[in-house]
Amino acid sequence: MKKSIFIINASQIASSKGAKARFGEEMKELQIIEDGAVVIEEGIIKAIGTTEELLSKYSKEDYEVIDAKGKTILPGFVDSHTHFIFGGYRAEEFSWRLNGVSYMEIMERGGGIINTVRSTKETPLEELIELGRKRLDSMMKFGVTTVEGKSGYGLDLDTEVKQLEAMRRLSSDHPMDIVSTFLGAHAVPKEYKGKEEEYVSFIIDEVLPKVNNLAEFCDVFCEKNVFSVEQSRRILLKAKELGMKLKLHADEIVQLGGAELAGELGATSADHLLQASDKGIESMRENDVIATLLPCTAFSLRESYARGREMIDRGCAVALATDFNPGSCFTYSIPLLFALACIEMRLTIEEAITALTINGAAALGKAHEIGTLDIGKKADLVILSYPSYKYIPYHVGINIVEKVIKNGEIVVNN
Ligand code: NIG
Ligand code: FE
Repeated sequence: MKKSIFIINASQIASSKGAKARFGEEMKELQIIEDGAVVIEEGIIKAIGTTEELLSKYSKEDYEVIDAKGKTILPGFVDSHTHFIFGGYRAEEFSWRLNGVSYMEIMERGGGIINTVRSTKETPLEELIELGRKRLDSMMKFGVTTVEGKSGYGLDLDTEVKQLEAMRRLSSDHPMDIVSTFLGAHAVPKEYKGKEEEYVSFIIDEVLPKVNNLAEFCDVFCEKNVFSVEQSRRILLKAKELGMKLKLHADEIVQLGGAELAGELGATSADHLLQASDKGIESMRENDVIATLLPCTAFSLRESYARGREMIDRGCAVALATDFNPGSCFTYSIPLLFALACIEMRLTIEEAITALTINGAAALGKAHEIGTLDIGKKADLVILSYPSYKYIPYHVGINIVEKVIKNGEIVVNN
């Protein structure tokens, strides 16, 4: 049986509420409990309230007690879009980008994703697992308790499976919860150059039926000179038929209509969206597609940010994620993500918390079990070293997470 924990005297507990995505105006509503307490049993939140209230019902003697005086408790963060399983690095390409060469130019020169495909093929499974483990350990120190990870650095059956297998192994022996996404349509591999349709058919006929039980989601990089709207639709319809949930890298660099496609197919989320059209935003809202924004990528690529403020004002459910990957955005820094969301994209602090907790959970189809501090949900929570959630973006780029509790166990003591 898992150890039981009783957290008392927290200056503040702050959390969104409920078991589904929060849309538009709802995003700014946080439930705040001053002088709060939480009882955790068997990895689940058993009770939550004021310290006085819970001390009258539960005895300190029965628990490991954490005194959170002067500190804030939040739900664990959900990083719902990353590419954390890969071999090799692209520091050289990054230096070209600093000198003005664009991400797509590098891709067209045979660099970019294809570069990481080469090194991921060469990296043995055990090594990929150990690299992944170190990255998960570091993410957890930032308060992340659930992470999504994508394949897409194999582009052949064996290497795609190797990436998904690495995530499966890590999810069984690392405390982090991992949600796997198949992203075989991340780039067209060299051997299919000029035969893009054949690669799409290969994914549909040969790969999807073999990976649908290894990944919960299927994603496509729907982008000019990568996969068209029509090709993306074919792949995602097949994935849906096989019982997978859908995501899209949509309207990142060129306005192709990816957000509209996400709405049409009932995708769980559409991600990036720097160039999403008004119609696309409307389609996401109408079809309950989570708009997952990745401002660290826009920052790294020196692109303008997605219209997050406007999306919320128009009633969308926005999630925030890091997009950690070896190329366009080498960061899993939650403090950086927060800073960009609040300072540059003008989300309020409350909205940013919702975006990184319950809406991140909803973007992974997990809002019923994580993302808020509600009785019966998993005991995934973060304790900050300061007395209010408002200290998060105020500490620009500084990690103020003190402890992380995952499934009812202390996994980080910073
Ligand atoms: O989400 N845009 C496409 N895919 C990734 C980048 C992958 C890479 O550059 O390795 C992204 O930014
Ligand atoms: Fe991505």
